[in-house]
Amino acid sequence: MNKLNLILIALFIMGSTMVYAEDGSLLWLRAKTDAHAQVVANKQGRTIDVAVEELQTQWQGAPVQLMIVNTKEVTALGGEGFTISGNKSKGFTIAASAEAGLLYGAYYLLRLQETNAVPATLNVSEKPSYTIRILNHWDSFGAEDNTRAAFRGSFWKPEELPQIPASYKQYARANASIGINATVLNNVNASPAVLTARWLEKVKTIANELRPYNIKVYLSVDFATPVRLGELTTADPLNKNVQKWWKSKVDEIYKYVPDFGGFLMKANSEGTSGPRDYGRTHLDGANMMADALAPHKGVIMWRAFVYDPNETDRAKQAYLEFQPNDGKFRSNVIIQVKNGPVDFQPREPISSLFGAMQKTPVMVEFEIVQEYLGYANHLAYLGTTFEECLDTDTYAKGTGSTVAKTTDGTMFGHKITAISGVANIRGNVANWCGHQFAQANWYVFGRLAWNHNLSAEAIAEEWVRQTFTNDEAFVLPVTDMMMRSREAEVDFMMPLGLHHLFAFGHHYGPEPWVEVSFARPDWLPSYYHKADAVGLGYDRTITGSNAVGQYFSPLRESYGNLTTCDERFLLWFHHVPWTYTMKSGRTLWDELCYHYDRGVQEVRDFQKTWDRMEKYVDSERFAHVQSRLRIQVSDAIWWRDACVLYFQTFAKTPIPYNLERPTMDLETLKAIDLVDFNYREKADRNKEREKIIPKIIGGGY
Ligand code: GCU
Repeated sequence: MNKLNLILIALFIMGSTMVYAEDGSLLWLRAKTDAHAQVVANKQGRTIDVAVEELQTQWQGAPVQLMIVNTKEVTALGGEGFTISGNKSKGFTIAASAEAGLLYGAYYLLRLQETNAVPATLNVSEKPSYTIRILNHWDSFGAEDNTRAAFRGSFWKPEELPQIPASYKQYARANASIGINATVLNNVNASPAVLTARWLEKVKTIANELRPYNIKVYLSVDFATPVRLGELTTADPLNKNVQKWWKSKVDEIYKYVPDFGGFLMKANSEGTSGPRDYGRTHLDGANMMADALAPHKGVIMWRAFVYDPNETDRAKQAYLEFQPNDGKFRSNVIIQVKNGPVDFQPREPISSLFGAMQKTPVMVEFEIVQEYLGYANHLAYLGTTFEECLDTDTYAKGTGSTVAKTTDGTMFGHKITAISGVANIRGNVANWCGHQFAQANWYVFGRLAWNHNLSAEAIAEEWVRQTFTNDEAFVLPVTDMMMRSREAEVDFMMPLGLHHLFAFGHHYGPEPWVEVSFARPDWLPSYYHKADAVGLGYDRTITGSNAVGQYFSPLRESYGNLTTCDERFLLWFHHVPWTYTMKSGRTLWDELCYHYDRGVQEVRDFQKTWDRMEKYVDSERFAHVQSRLRIQVSDAIWWRDACVLYFQTFAKTPIPYNLERPTMDLETLKAIDLVDFNYREKADRNKEREKIIPKIIGGGY
């Protein structure tokens, strides 16, 4: 055998033993790319080219025609809408009035293929529920510091630019495939440096990469930027020089990015700068920014996440600050409102601002990242959270005034409509989101933003089919597990309307007892749970803080009355006696214990379900999810023991005897000092905690 043959044999053996390591990096985009589909388009363009390429390489069916047309039926769908007609044997025609519509139509067809759902004949028309479907990256992009350290952890890998990181293309495809068309590159706690030429150059590069996928870029800005950059001595929004500064800054940004989307503003919130620093209002600030952006058709998304440590119930403050100014904001201002009145808790009632600002566009802000749901350690499908909020009736204009309808333009006729999600996309993990199942939260946000009439369940199933397999033996149990997962989290963390029982300094573990002398009261659990010898919960009724008064009738009355209040929100709105009889016939105390226990049992059940799935899934992803579920069970027990044992010191009643007993002592749990978790050496913290709970916290959310 000659040398060449030996080399060939060696290469053959290497090739056949080289196995692709399944790390989840493909997300839900797993169509085979060996197709040679016949795809023709009646026009060319960068976005059409993407649509053509995606179909040519992945569509396994009969020919597809992409048509830019100008018919009434199609133009009525807007530039992003599309129709698809045709049949499986002769092929399909995707028609749209603009390039973006063809792109979304292409992904629609591919999704049908990948979920085994291509029908014999097809005749659909689609258009998005919201015009702006935007991710908010809480990302270090734009950090002041010139050192490389400041870049670390940024998904955008700014240190590599203008070389384009390989991840950009997959990011753009993933977003386009689910209809996301906008992205805020940097953290809401923004650095002023992001508006300097050095960073705007990078913004431009990113915008250029995302544009073919119909994704516009936006930036979070620091209200005091002109001062912080040393260019002015004030940022007073009524000062002419400040107004001029913003106008010229905005003009400059549009030179870099002609289709720049606009700004996201976190003003006077948790220590950020804002108009109130100058004795002005949020209205003054928002309108000043709006005027600067208007000539370029930019928008300002002004967050309503504001609260002060004053006497007023934190849950009421956003409404008090913004609602009275309804009708006074410029038309390119959108008020961005978190789904609930406090802060992305496992479950909150809707924010009272939905439906309450009828002359100003209001958008929902969801948190896709699991900041309060076990970070990337827990399997918690948030489709149900998003759906619950969007489908809640505000009664703003009588029955049927759902959050979805008050924000999508149908009810109040606003031209600009938007929906946002705090992204869970990370630059430092191959699977993008830390947990394989966290990808589903990115997916479902996009799909609901595109069509809020879809069900969380249908979307979960769609995701499972594309991400794992179409085998029903896998699809059904796994979809079912996802659908139960958020409720399980609520049960073992904060059932019945409890909220903010988290440790001070991080949002991972329980510390309902924590008191820190230097802390703001509204950052401590006791502010929210108000446990005492009589009972548990925050009285927000008419005789309490009267937060219920901010809702429309009959929501106001039903939340405000102990007997009619939805029990999922009972302790959010009421201080309830331990002995109160719940709808189940149990006392509040017993019911609470049942919920905590049910949460633990549910996660144990997820483990069993997942273990049964081993034969349907690659070993890497199987092992990953299995190990995360082990952490989740142990966290669930930690939460249950901590909360039940702590509340028992007030209720002074035994845990129902048919329930599993706690596995840890309250004193042992309390001895874990989590106060300064964020500020001390994490390694030490973890070591200390691991003595009792044998695992690690999953590296930030
Ligand atoms: C939470 C979160 C902060 C974030 C803030 C916000 O409080 O912990 O990191 O900045 O929400 O939404 O602005």
